[in-house]
Amino acid sequence: MTPATTTLWRHAHLVTLDGDAGWGEVADGALLTEGGRIAWVGPEAALAQGLAGRPAPEAEHDLQGALMTPGLVDAHTHLVYGGDRAAEFELRLQGATYEQIARAGGGIRSTVAATRAASDEALFAAAARRARVLMAEGVTTLEVKSGYGLDATHEARCLAVARRLGRELPLTVRTTSLGAHALPPEYVGRPDDFIDAVCSWLPAQQAAGLVDAVDVFCDSIGFTPAQTRRVFDAAQALGLPVKLHAEQLSDQGGAALAAQYRALSCDHLEHLSDEGVAAMAASGTVAMLLPGAYYFLRETRLPPVAALRAAGVPIAIATDHNPGSSPALSLLLMLSMACTLFRLTPEEAFRGVTVQAARALGLPDRGRLAAGQRADLAVWDAQHPRELAYVFGHNPCRAVIHAGVARATGLTQGLRA
Ligand code: NIG
Ligand code: FE
Repeated sequence: MTPATTTLWRHAHLVTLDGDAGWGEVADGALLTEGGRIAWVGPEAALAQGLAGRPAPEAEHDLQGALMTPGLVDAHTHLVYGGDRAAEFELRLQGATYEQIARAGGGIRSTVAATRAASDEALFAAAARRARVLMAEGVTTLEVKSGYGLDATHEARCLAVARRLGRELPLTVRTTSLGAHALPPEYVGRPDDFIDAVCSWLPAQQAAGLVDAVDVFCDSIGFTPAQTRRVFDAAQALGLPVKLHAEQLSDQGGAALAAQYRALSCDHLEHLSDEGVAAMAASGTVAMLLPGAYYFLRETRLPPVAALRAAGVPIAIATDHNPGSSPALSLLLMLSMACTLFRLTPEEAFRGVTVQAARALGLPDRGRLAAGQRADLAVWDAQHPRELAYVFGHNPCRAVIHAGVARATGLTQGLRA
């Protein structure tokens, strides 16, 4: 996968995101990639110095002033599932709520039935189609959760499909085991027995190399804080990092609990309390805001962005792609929504899908343009990075570079090698 070539990208409008704030723009910049990493980045004026003592690059491209940013990171998705929930969408439009549908055995459980019935090939083909749509908008790293199998076999199968995506597509995939997503029909009335089962699957998933992190849906229609704690203890015993679907529909104190386990991220957070904010700030946990679910479920309670900002909690943004609460396949649209609905600045939102999203996955090697970072890059038809949060409904991405190799879209054909 890692190319042996060195490539020089010239005359780019670079958005480095170096430092803790600001875009880190270099108006006329150059960037050298070597073996899948960024070897040098800086202004054109310093290029001679940058290349001094290095072999001549094997390929050179003139970007003619196009915007070049880090590749995007979608750090919260449920990409692997069977079926869809369009009929449930219609039901909600007739007045049923997401919670009512879930309590009546629909919702996540209906997707579980469709997922269990789908073949590995069908699951892979559908997930790969979805991943390619995200990638066409500059996504180079993607997190994928399980959570629609809900037994040992089907959970492992979904995680294996996610791993296969990372092997067969020019994309880095991080997998998250979300067995505690919903109570499957065979455990109705026995949630604690189900939590025992979820904990018992983790060692085998880890031994098979299927899991990078562990997640729980802690909510009134999900699992309790005490049940969440048991799953986190099992994860911790295996050395696996945790994250949490927390405070989406109600305040369960999940974020504060997750912070005790130094969670990578707490996700959703519309009902996050001041105590939750303080606990996340103290543990360095990322606040993963998911405007797609907020929009699609017509939530009215906003995540406490001002409090998160004031406390210095890092904020990330993701699609939360899933069939029930966010059938969105556009991380750029989430930038727009994060600004319009949540009042993030374009810079905060963009950091939220690059450097902060990478942090939420525990991947400090990406999300910025700096020597030593992975050469995961995106090239855009835009004059200024704020335009990426401003436009919606069309895709200004011209090229995607994963591990130093350019893929896809219009610009690559026009590039002079
Ligand atoms: O992140 N909140 C729980 N899980 C998903 C929704 C899953 C579904 O409805 O299928 C979410 O929003
Ligand atoms: Fe989710």
